[in-house]
Amino acid sequence: MTGLSGPAGHEANQCSAVVGLQWGDEGKGKVVDYLAAEHDAIVRYNGGANAGHTVVIGQERFALHLIPSGILQGNKLAVIANGVVVDPAKLLEEIEGLGSRGVDMSGLVLSDRAHVVMPYHKFEDALRERILSQDSSAQAGIGTTLRGIGPCYAEKIQRAGAVRVGDLLRPDVLAQKVNIACTYTNALLEAVGDAKRFDVQEVVATAIQYGKQLQPRIQDTTYLLHQLVGERKRVLFEGANATLLDVDHGTYPYVTSSSSTALGIGPGTGVSGRLLEEVIGVMKAYSTRVGRGPMPTELTDATGDLIREKGHEFGTTTGRPRRCGWLDLVAVRYAAMINGVTGLAVTLLDVLAGFEELKVCTSYEIDGQRTDRFSPDAATLDRVTPIFETLPGFSEDIGQVRERDELPAAAQRYLELIEQFVQVPVEIIGVGPARDQTVLCGAQVG
Ligand code: IMP
Repeated sequence: MTGLSGPAGHEANQCSAVVGLQWGDEGKGKVVDYLAAEHDAIVRYNGGANAGHTVVIGQERFALHLIPSGILQGNKLAVIANGVVVDPAKLLEEIEGLGSRGVDMSGLVLSDRAHVVMPYHKFEDALRERILSQDSSAQAGIGTTLRGIGPCYAEKIQRAGAVRVGDLLRPDVLAQKVNIACTYTNALLEAVGDAKRFDVQEVVATAIQYGKQLQPRIQDTTYLLHQLVGERKRVLFEGANATLLDVDHGTYPYVTSSSSTALGIGPGTGVSGRLLEEVIGVMKAYSTRVGRGPMPTELTDATGDLIREKGHEFGTTTGRPRRCGWLDLVAVRYAAMINGVTGLAVTLLDVLAGFEELKVCTSYEIDGQRTDRFSPDAATLDRVTPIFETLPGFSEDIGQVRERDELPAAAQRYLELIEQFVQVPVEIIGVGPARDQTVLCGAQVG
C-alpha cells in the first residue's frame, strides 16, 4: 500500500505512472489530472492523437488527444516524449484550443525525436482500412482511429523516410526524407489504382510552417527528464491507449502500434523503468472496447445498451459507440501483472448504480477446460467463454460519496472482489465525471 491520499497532503513518489488496464477509455485523463497536482512534470510516452482523454473541471469539459492531461493543473511541465507520434496540425489545434480557454500552455515541451504523423500516413491508414474491410472473406480491417498511427510507427521502423520533430527545423533533411516517403507512398497508390499523389514540395512547405510554430517547444526531452529526476522533481508518466491494446501484450493483431503499458516508458522517454516507484492501473468498473477484436464479456443486448447509455460510451476521438460488457477480471489481473501495478483506480463505479445484479468474469472456458489465464492472442481469445460470478447490485446514486465506507454495501463488496482477485489495493474510486467526484482510500488486500 503506497498511502495515496490525494493532492492535499500526499507526499508523492518521485516517479509514478498511470496506465490503462483494459481497452482504453478507462478514465485515465481524470486520474492523471488529479494526480498531476502533486507532480512537477507530466509525460506522454506513447501513442498519438488516437488517444482521447476527457477531464471535466467545473462546468467545462476538456478533450485532450496529444497534450498530457496534467497541463490542466497549470504551472506544470507537460512533456511529449520521443515515443509519441505527433500530428503537428492536431497538436497546434489543441494548443490553440486550450490556450483560448485560458489554460497555461507555457510548460508544454516536445521531443525533437518524436516522430511526425505526415498527411500520407493518415491517407494510408484510411486506404488500408478501406481495402481490407471491403474484402468480406478477409475481414481484415483493425477498425483504427484513422489518425495515421500505424503507418507512422511502421515508417519509424522502416527508418529511411521517417520524419522526426527535429527534422521540421531542418529543411534539407526534411525534404530528403519526405521525398523518400512519397516515392514509396505514391508508388503504392499507383499500384492499388488510387488517383491520389502526394507532392513533395507541398508536403515539405506545410511541415516547415508547423516547425516554425512549434520551434520554441522543441528540445531534447531525454536530458530534460534526467535533469528533473536529478533535481528530485516529481514526474508522472501518462500512458495512452491501454494494456490490452499494447502491440506486444495486447489482443494482437487488434491493438494499436505502440507500447502502451508501463513497459513503454523506457523506450518512449529514455528514462529507466527502474525509477518507477508507483504504477496506478486505471480500470473501469465494467468493460468497453472500440474497434474490432475479441472482448469476452461483451453484451450485445439491452444490458449492454444500458451501460453505453449510462456511461456515455461514445469515443472521445472518433465518436464511435463503444462496445460494452461486464467487468473482465481475468483481463484486468493480466494487465496488472504486465504493468507491475501497485494500486488500482476504479472509475465509473456510479454507472453501475441501478443494475439489480452485477456480473464479474473470473475465469474462462476454452476447449472444455477452465482457465484463469488471459490470452493476448486474438484468435484464441475469440474462442473463450466467460464464466461469471454474480453479485448483488446497488441502486443508490453515489455521486456525492467521498469516503469508501460510505458507499452502499454492494458497491463495497464489488470493490473487495476486485482487490481479492487482482491482489492489488483500490486506491482511487471514480464516482462521477467531475474532478472532485473522487474517493481516495487506503484499502487492504485480504
Ligand atoms: P489505431 O491506434 O488508430 O491504429 O487503432 C487501433 C485500435 O486501437 C482500434 O481498435 C482503436 O479503436 C483502438 N484504440 C487506439 N487508441 C485508443 C484509445 O485511446 N482508446 C480506445 N481505443 C483505442
